[in-house]
Amino acid sequence: MPVEEKTPEQAEQEPVEVLTHEPAEEMPILTVRDTVLFPHALLPINVGRPSSLALVSTLGENRLLGMVSQLDPREDSPGPKDLYAVGTVAMIHKVVRMKEGALLFCEGVSRMRILTYTSTDPYLRAQVERLPELEPEPTPELEALRRDTIAVFQQIVSATPNLSDDLATAVASTAEFGRLADLVAGILPGLSHPERQAVLELVDVRARLAFVHKHLARELELLELRNKIQSQVQGQLSQTQREFYLREQLKAIQKELGEGDDGRREVEELREKLEAAGMTDEVKAEAMKELNRLSRISPMSPEYSVTRTYLEWMVTLPWGVTSADPVNVQRAAEILDQDHYNLEKVKERILDYLAVLQLKPILKGPILCFVGPPGVGKTSLGKSIARAVGRKFARISMGGMHDEAEIRGHRRTYIGSLPGQIIQGLRRAATRDPVFMLDEVDKLGRDFRGDPASALLEVLDPEQNSTFRDNYLDVPFDLSKVLFITTANVLDTIPEALRDRMEIIDLPGYTEQEKVIIAFRYLIPRQTKENGLDEDKGIQFSDEAVRHLIRRYTREAGVRSLEREIGTICRKRARRIAEGRPDTGEITAGLVEEMLGAPRFRPDVEVAERTRRPGVAVGLAWTPVGGDVLFVEAGRMPGGSKGLIMTGQLGAVMQESVQAALTWVRGNATRYGIDPEIFKTIDIHVHVPAGAIPKDGPSAGITMAAALVSMLTERCVRPNLAMTGEITLAGQVLPVGGIKEKVLAAKRSGVREVIMPFENEVNVKEDLKSEQIGDMTLHFVKMVDEVMEIALQPRADAPSPIALQGPMR
Ligand SMILES: Nc1ncnc2c1ncn2[C@@H]1O[C@H](COP(=O)(O)OP(=O)(O)OP(=O)(O)O)[C@@H](O)[C@H]1O
Ligand SMILES: [Mg+2]
Repeated sequence: MPVEEKTPEQAEQEPVEVLTHEPAEEMPILTVRDTVLFPHALLPINVGRPSSLALVSTLGENRLLGMVSQLDPREDSPGPKDLYAVGTVAMIHKVVRMKEGALLFCEGVSRMRILTYTSTDPYLRAQVERLPELEPEPTPELEALRRDTIAVFQQIVSATPNLSDDLATAVASTAEFGRLADLVAGILPGLSHPERQAVLELVDVRARLAFVHKHLARELELLELRNKIQSQVQGQLSQTQREFYLREQLKAIQKELGEGDDGRREVEELREKLEAAGMTDEVKAEAMKELNRLSRISPMSPEYSVTRTYLEWMVTLPWGVTSADPVNVQRAAEILDQDHYNLEKVKERILDYLAVLQLKPILKGPILCFVGPPGVGKTSLGKSIARAVGRKFARISMGGMHDEAEIRGHRRTYIGSLPGQIIQGLRRAATRDPVFMLDEVDKLGRDFRGDPASALLEVLDPEQNSTFRDNYLDVPFDLSKVLFITTANVLDTIPEALRDRMEIIDLPGYTEQEKVIIAFRYLIPRQTKENGLDEDKGIQFSDEAVRHLIRRYTREAGVRSLEREIGTICRKRARRIAEGRPDTGEITAGLVEEMLGAPRFRPDVEVAERTRRPGVAVGLAWTPVGGDVLFVEAGRMPGGSKGLIMTGQLGAVMQESVQAALTWVRGNATRYGIDPEIFKTIDIHVHVPAGAIPKDGPSAGITMAAALVSMLTERCVRPNLAMTGEITLAGQVLPVGGIKEKVLAAKRSGVREVIMPFENEVNVKEDLKSEQIGDMTLHFVKMVDEVMEIALQPRADAPSPIALQGPMR
């Protein structure tokens, strides 16, 4: 019998106790190195030794053998003395022959003890005695042991990733105590080979289960300890070590994917640009942070392009780029004069502003705001200022902006987000001190998406704008060197808080004479050049042709349509040259009509035509696009139940002034020979055509009254006469606004006489030059009676007043 070497644990155990003696049987013995096969377990066993292979080849499948393990696994050809005395009777289920050796699938059948070896060649054979398995009576103590074994085993399985949960289930469903101990001992990863052998040798089931349980508990303790140590170690790995480790891993992955190089080159390029961008330290630190992030993410990921786009924005912004020469007011004055005709007052105020800038280069003053109708030169003045102070020019339109984000940008977390318009404009300007024009501040919207005006305030406020923070950039950008200029068509709709910070400069519009000069000095030279007509191919506009264009083809306070029409004529002329048609190059009024078609506007004719019926009076209105004439029509129809009907999109204030006018007319009816009883039998209709345009304000009061009296007396209003003034019930005429625009509009429309409130005479003196009034007669009145006196013609054989047949439905 071989000497058994016992482990300390084995030594502690009671000696193997054989309870029943089975008859001895002889069987071949397979020696194994590190393996213990328990009864009921199935194990694949690799065999390679010549003796084992000889055994397998003579034996074949479905045969029994004895399996014993070596005391020392390093022994290559163990003899009887090198083997444990206790082993397993096993059944060979399958033999898979391989190139070197074979694979056996064996199932443990029962424990056995070697009695004597009977042969050693070509393989070992021995007399063995099976050791029967005796299940003990279940006691509470044993049951407790069983349950705890299962519980601890389950904990170990769940804490050990490479043990399948199925094992826990299998263990839990094993009812026999002995089999349970064997099963766990076969699986438990922490059990050494001698320990497994010890379990095999423990025939006493109670002792076996106790032994396994003890080792399970130890294993669980070890496992918990290991987890604790591991998490401590991980915590100790410093952040930089971690980053280094991850970066190395990433490099390896990128290399594997073949994408490392491009990304790295891009990152390096960005890094260089970033160094050169002239950012403040704070901004640079933020950008570097993003750059480091970029170097870690795969160029294939969507996040990469988001971060790259951000960094590209950062490096292309003009953090440190300025273009300003010191302001030179003298030179600026020359340039302003070169670019724009007249506008003396405006230029004066611009130069004042620039003079302050010359003395005190920090911009702390109010923001300039050019207010006036379209095409009067607001935008082009801005460009001219930029040229005059030697700076770049940027422009954005505020018209229809609802969203604060349009000014301040969207956070980067939004898909497709971008910086706001301010930052975009600065990128286009490529300097941080451009002249920056904010067009149409009067058309700022406002809704649930936030108030763009308040964002704009922050942009314009010199106290705040040195650290303007765009949502997309999320770093401060210094706007304090930017020269902001705003423009608007009207003042009223500019948010109050914004208007407070502005210095308003009015550009009301041009007279015909001014337009003629602007046309000859600026518009015609520019258009001829743009359309490829230089001097030798020449084109000369006659004075008369330009006036014809102004009067009959445009109706505007500014000169934009005029410039467009001049452009059209230049192109027609260019075509004639290209087609080889003989031409002197002289543009006459006749040629204008030939080229542009019949005149579009005949305001003088229109005014005269429409007032040929009683009940029509011409008013003057101030509109955002300059002044305009306005026709007021009064009509009547039999009835008397409806009283007064008003149409033509009249606002509340204008409706009230119609009411007031009617009340005054009824109160003074007899004075004009109107039967007061008539109002009981007729309905009166006041209409202001030119339809869909909303109209409001009190200044049409006297025009309403004149139309009503004209209609009721059947006396026509004098042709080519227009009026403006508010009416009171007592018959006074109150002053109104927009006199300059109104007078210019009257002149454009061929009006020859204007009635206006006495108190507006000062405006005429202050705001209008005598050539702007020309040969028009201005009447200044205090009372409505005077208006009737001047406006109404004696009753003649005029066509009948506007009368509708029957009541309106
Ligand atoms: N006084 C002037 N002298 C020379 N050119 C002028 C003058 N006023 C306007 N212009 C020309 O008229 C054209 C229209 O002017 P601009 O575009 O500046 O109008 P605007 O006031 O900005 O109008 P909008 O309110 O529609 O934006 C430009 O080509 C401009 O050069
Ligand atoms: Mg403009």
